[in-house]
Amino acid sequence: MRYQIAPLFCRPWTLLGLTPKLIENHYEHNYGGAFARLNAIAEELEALDPAAAPPHVIRRLKQDEAAALNSLALHEVYFASLGADGRVIPETMANALAHDFGSVDRWRREFVALANSLDGGSGWVLLSWLPRAGRLVNHSIGDGSPAIAGAIPVLALDMYEHAYHLDFGANTVSYVATFMRNIDWSAVQDRYEDAVGVQPPRPLEQKQFADVPSITVEEVKAMLDAGTPVQIIDTRPRHSSSRSPDMMEAAVWRDPDRVEEWMSELSKTAPVVAFCVYGFHVGCIAVRALRKAGFDARYMAGGHFAWKAIKGPVKLFEATTHA
Ligand SMILES: [Fe+2]
Repeated sequence: MRYQIAPLFCRPWTLLGLTPKLIENHYEHNYGGAFARLNAIAEELEALDPAAAPPHVIRRLKQDEAAALNSLALHEVYFASLGADGRVIPETMANALAHDFGSVDRWRREFVALANSLDGGSGWVLLSWLPRAGRLVNHSIGDGSPAIAGAIPVLALDMYEHAYHLDFGANTVSYVATFMRNIDWSAVQDRYEDAVGVQPPRPLEQKQFADVPSITVEEVKAMLDAGTPVQIIDTRPRHSSSRSPDMMEAAVWRDPDRVEEWMSELSKTAPVVAFCVYGFHVGCIAVRALRKAGFDARYMAGGHFAWKAIKGPVKLFEATTHA
């Protein structure tokens, strides 16, 4: 398989304060260089017997491949980020920036500050969409900053010296300001609209318990913090307490095999949250029985360990009555 080179997106003669010579050099030597390296690496990898190759060879090739893939993809976004006046941000994009950063101005100040923080160092400064989190984020890649898995860049600023030295010398502050005055926000918005169409990783689906409603640990914590009345039942099998001697602070333990006996103690006016070790079968079965009996019950997704993972308060396990 061979990678393809993309044409230059921006029209260099329309840019203000960035010379065509800088853009041409950048495109030809740095973008073109990444393209050549990537295809050479792909060829090397194809010719290699992975089982027989020394580990350091595989490691180097895969590191070089990742660097070249990032360089290729990010240069394309960089050149496609330039070409307008940087001022007019279309409504969808402006709303998205305001939603995720507080205001467009707040976004701009963070992005520019991040770029200037590289201070003559090198790397990429990016505005990316994170499908997993459903939001935009500013971040940098290079010089010790790793790429973010799953992030989709919609705006890219190249902070490597080759991107500015010809026109700006060491004056990176002026380069960053000039970049901001040449952003093509319509093109950024097009990429944003494509990015938000990317589905986040699919959530855990428990098909056999599709009828049983769940609640997240964060939602339970918010209810407790707000003082909302809620009855929390730890329905972990008895033997699990020997493996995990603590339990959720706000919970009482009840034997999951005796739901019919202890459910009469519960109030039907306040919601019930039940959970087991990981939030699979045991808690769901208890909740199903409670709902059948008319309780407003939900199981806590992720169970005991999700509660611990968000550092929810715990106490020593107490096997109270009805043990
Ligand atoms: Fe570059």
